[in-house]
Amino acid sequence: MKQIFASVLILMGMLGQVVAQSNKTQPMFKPGEIWRDTNGEHINAHGGGMLFHKGRYYWFGEHKVAGREGNKALVGVSCYSSKDLNTWKNEGPSLSVDAEGSGSEIEKGSVIERPKVIYNEKTRKFVMWFHLELKGQGYSAARTGVAVADKVTGPYTYLKSVRPHAGVWPENATEAHKTEPITVTDNDPDWEQKVAAGAFLQRDFKQGQMSRDMTLFVDDDGTAYHIASSEENRTLHIGKLKDDYLSFTDEYVRVFPGGRNEAPAIFKKDGKYYMITSGLTGWAPNPARSAVSDNMMRGWKSLGNPVRGTEEELSTTFLSQSTYVLPVQGQKDAFIFMADRWRPNNPIDGRYIWLPVFFEDGKPVLRWLEEWTLSDLKPKRRGESRYAE
Ligand code: GAL
Repeated sequence: MKQIFASVLILMGMLGQVVAQSNKTQPMFKPGEIWRDTNGEHINAHGGGMLFHKGRYYWFGEHKVAGREGNKALVGVSCYSSKDLNTWKNEGPSLSVDAEGSGSEIEKGSVIERPKVIYNEKTRKFVMWFHLELKGQGYSAARTGVAVADKVTGPYTYLKSVRPHAGVWPENATEAHKTEPITVTDNDPDWEQKVAAGAFLQRDFKQGQMSRDMTLFVDDDGTAYHIASSEENRTLHIGKLKDDYLSFTDEYVRVFPGGRNEAPAIFKKDGKYYMITSGLTGWAPNPARSAVSDNMMRGWKSLGNPVRGTEEELSTTFLSQSTYVLPVQGQKDAFIFMADRWRPNNPIDGRYIWLPVFFEDGKPVLRWLEEWTLSDLKPKRRGESRYAE
């Protein structure tokens, strides 16, 4: 008996060591710090999104350049790959800008933001959508562009850009939207209310709806959704893409009219859809928001600011703006909040804020961690967690 007891003790000790060691060797995420790729260069994939394909993660993002002009698309969309989410290999530009003066919609000097890539099981193509602003037109074009590739890393071939849903009313449009025009002028004291009520939905009905900050979400049944800030960034539009993911169906809805949501990120847990967004203050950070629904196309309910921490953390989302929520493969209910700490005066120096998404009382919750590993994503019981309130 004594012998068995001793062996069990030894075994437990060995196991403890193995666990301790594997924790030690787990790579650390250090939000906000310079994050070097395998060439030793700071990762250049801002406003990014992620695709997991055949055992590797692919991180797509805006390639930024040094100096004030560096937010323009001067190179294209970066792609990095990794097995462990921490060590990243630069796979080169996946979508390259066209030559200056070529007249192409994605010519050098246009604006290409928040690229997201999804894989189409049926066509076996990789489909990239992104926010596109045409060269020399500031942010007035408000279009969404699409490119396609046979290989995950590219090269992606640019297909077209659109103002979605020209001539189509959203599913949740009212009779009044369709029949009672709302006129709004620039200095209208009721500008916000009128826009929330659908003034720009009506204005853009014929030419197609505006599409700026965007993301994509593919549901378990293969349906792909395009989620974008529309109506002068006042209202989110969620639209279903066609089966090949290369264009829009006529099905779309307005979500949080007048809510001023930007930087949408969507994920699914236990059959519910969750959304994390930012408010509307350009490159400057602001308080994040979160929402939940049982259905992508209706019933979104606000869950408030997901950040828990100091006043400053709450009001600036750790000085960052959401871009994507990544479901970690092989770990149940493990999600990473990905955000950008923009540096508008020197965009290439922008930093990445990656933090675990915890769930408390059915709400997604974000807390600052100086450094953390994937094992920190495991749900912890209340009272046991170093992160619990
Ligand atoms: C932010 C947006 C960024 C970028 C920026 C330009 O609100 O989230 O993606 O468009 O404005 O000022």
